[in-house]
Amino acid sequence: MSNIEQTLSIIKPDAVERNLENEIKQMFKDNGFQLVKEKKIQIEKSEAESFYKVHETKPFYNDLCAYLSSGPIVVMVLEKENAVIGNRELMGATNPNDAEVGTIRKKYGISIDKNSVHGSDSIENAKIEINFFFKD
Ligand code: CMP
Repeated sequence: MSNIEQTLSIIKPDAVERNLENEIKQMFKDNGFQLVKEKKIQIEKSEAESFYKVHETKPFYNDLCAYLSSGPIVVMVLEKENAVIGNRELMGATNPNDAEVGTIRKKYGISIDKNSVHGSDSIENAKIEINFFFKD
């Protein structure tokens, strides 16, 4: 039985700033993802706080929100079979130092903060995050 899912991906400021947008999109396409929706935007810190609300009690919350709102980002809806877990595998570990060879974060990530991409961590959060950026 096919299990087509959608997940939210963000190309973060560190990667947009280094002109990696097209290379990263190509990695998604090469791995069978369809880019169903995409837009390049810059968000307010208050919007980043709302997006990352699940992390509000974490010590890194303030820096994380300041960072995500510090420059242009590319937000995308990716679609394929089992897209949520597939995207997490393709991104690699949160900390680029721990990421496997061949993953986006290993290839492009600079640090745990500047780790180039965000991806939804569950099907439930994918729906919430897609709705956050692409409310029609
Ligand atoms: P992301 O997948 O966008 O989700 C939350 C982000 O917080 C994460 O990627 C990291 O870039 C950032 N972050 C900073 N410090 C930590 C940490 N100690 N543990 C997890 N995430 C962190």
